[in-house]
Amino acid sequence: MSDSDLAKFNAAQAALAYIKDGMVVGLGTGSTSAHFVRLLGDKVRQGLRVKGVPTSEATRNLAEQVGVPLLEISQVTSIDVDVDGADEIDPQFRLVKGGGGALLREKIVAAASKRVVVIADASKWVETLGAFPLPVEVTRFGFALTAQRIKEALQATGCEGVEVALRVSGKANEPVITDGGNYIIDAHAKRIPDANVLAAALQQIAGVVEHGIFIGLAHVVILGKAKGAEVKEL
Ligand code: 5RP
Repeated sequence: MSDSDLAKFNAAQAALAYIKDGMVVGLGTGSTSAHFVRLLGDKVRQGLRVKGVPTSEATRNLAEQVGVPLLEISQVTSIDVDVDGADEIDPQFRLVKGGGGALLREKIVAAASKRVVVIADASKWVETLGAFPLPVEVTRFGFALTAQRIKEALQATGCEGVEVALRVSGKANEPVITDGGNYIIDAHAKRIPDANVLAAALQQIAGVVEHGIFIGLAHVVILGKAKGAEVKEL
């Protein structure tokens, strides 16, 4: 395992302390969350009784492979604890998420959770959000117009050097389609001077399904290192 992967693993392992028998657990998406899902699978095999609510089809597949019993989001009214990764975390526990394209389901699950535990390698801790391109999930219809409005919103809220790009993948540069059937616009700016104001502005744009700024959702941040993990609680 590389040092970075070891740091993610250590963060995931530390998050197990927040899981108790009988809990309903939100299962995040991404490489750090994948470590957590595998570790949770180990605990289930040892007798822990939990039910997981996956935040993506990728996580659903992994959880099924490692034997974590699942619930559909429609079967729950609340989730005890959600464990998920992040692309950036600031000192107010505001997050940028969506690098893995699952921000919509991730936000719905986080918002339904009594406690949200963010797991990440320590490099994700930043003073100011924005170096990581901000993912915004948009409807396919009118996506280019929506991308332009997103760019204007970033500029109007003080971001500089803004570029927006449709997320594509593969040799053919096909647009990435989210689990919800939408596109993702990645909004590049060096820094986001006011994440709260930008989040509110993005919510007003027709065609924006969800954006990757998570405010007021995280309760615990676990920063993994090559040796051990640092736990921060709000
Ligand atoms: C997926 C996410 C991920 O949590 C985020 O991209 C971090 O991923 P990783 O754990 O692979 O660094 O928001 O939509």
